[in-house]
Amino acid sequence: MKVMIITSSPNKDGLTETCGRVARQGVEAAKGEAVMVRLNDLNIAKCQACDNGWGTCLKEHRCQVEDDFQNLHESVGAVDAFIIITPVYWGDLSESAKAFFDRLRRCEAPNQSRNRLEGKPVISVAAAGGSGRGTLTCLSSLERLWTHVRADIFDLLGITRRNRDYMLEAIRSAANQVAAS
Ligand SMILES: Cc1cc2nc3c(=O)[nH]c(=O)nc-3n(C[C@H](O)[C@H](O)[C@H](O)COP(=O)(O)O)c2cc1C
Repeated sequence: MKVMIITSSPNKDGLTETCGRVARQGVEAAKGEAVMVRLNDLNIAKCQACDNGWGTCLKEHRCQVEDDFQNLHESVGAVDAFIIITPVYWGDLSESAKAFFDRLRRCEAPNQSRNRLEGKPVISVAAAGGSGRGTLTCLSSLERLWTHVRADIFDLLGITRRNRDYMLEAIRSAANQVAAS
């Protein structure tokens, strides 16, 4: 199984990237192929809400903004499962995750006939700081996103400094299970 692992932290050496590494180990231990995507290395602008907010993407299932979104949007159709890891910022997704997923949702949510995510398993990970406050609201935003694009929510996991050791194991194990399914 081909599993896309998307991380969305500006920090190249933080908790988000550590979660990405263990997720990759889990996928590869199941003989899966991990496709690593680091959103902060890409140029993905925010949604322009064109056409008075409705967006031409509603009908065309393609975003009009020409940047790195286009290739990544294509790649989403070529994988079998997803693991999304975002730092918790203000109880929500990071800015790079918001920019990508806002546009992805607009392209895919109304797409009845050839949705690139429908039925595909997704593991979401919210990587928080010491307090862990806002982990649930961050995961709730992700749950809503997957519901809109009709993906299959495999798990929603919150990791903090306090639970880090056992949650890294849980992420590795969840990734392994999704890659083996
Ligand atoms: C702008 C900003 C907002 C944050 N908001 C929260 C928050 O609401 N709850 C929380 O537990 N941690 C919060 N944090 C801490 C980060 O979630 C935490 O440091 C996380 O590990 C960052 O990911 P990284 O290690 O990949 O950089 C915030 C950090 C920043 C920079």
